Amino acid sequence: MEIKLKINGINKEVTIKEGEYLQSALKKLGFLNVRKGCETGSCGLCTVLLDGKPTLSCSTLAVRGIGKDITTLEGESVEVAKFAEVLTGEGADQCGYCSPGFTLTVIAMKRELESPTIDEIKHYLTGNLCRCTGYMGQLRAVKKYMEVK
Ligand code: FES
Ligand code: FES
Repeated sequence: MEIKLKINGINKEVTIKEGEYLQSALKKLGFLNVRKGCETGSCGLCTVLLDGKPTLSCSTLAVRGIGKDITTLEGESVEVAKFAEVLTGEGADQCGYCSPGFTLTVIAMKRELESPTIDEIKHYLTGNLCRCTGYMGQLRAVKKYMEVK
């Protein structure tokens, strides 16, 4: 069946199978930054924003995106550039495979939490795994981006 999705402010049409997930539909539309990892809702690689909330596209049916604002990395270029600068500065950009989902989660967190504690930041980011960095560089970058002392 054909469905309409609004992605980064632009209406798109995509043909999906029954039960197809949003990650797969976005890939068909060329959004290759929406990564696939565990496909069990554990790693956060496939995170997109659905009406501004971090959402695992590997376990969200594509039809659940109908009528919602779907945001991928491409739709947040200004904030992505700001965060990428601090991430690079802290040496936390290694293979980069986790970066799209992680970055979108951080951007959503900045909008949602005002003056978060370190524990609140860690809790918000629990679902975004990284196999390379050991997390300390990422945490330093997030603190700088969030302007947390
Ligand atoms: S691929 Fe979606 S949570 Fe791992
Ligand atoms: S930088 Fe490689 S998985 Fe995070």
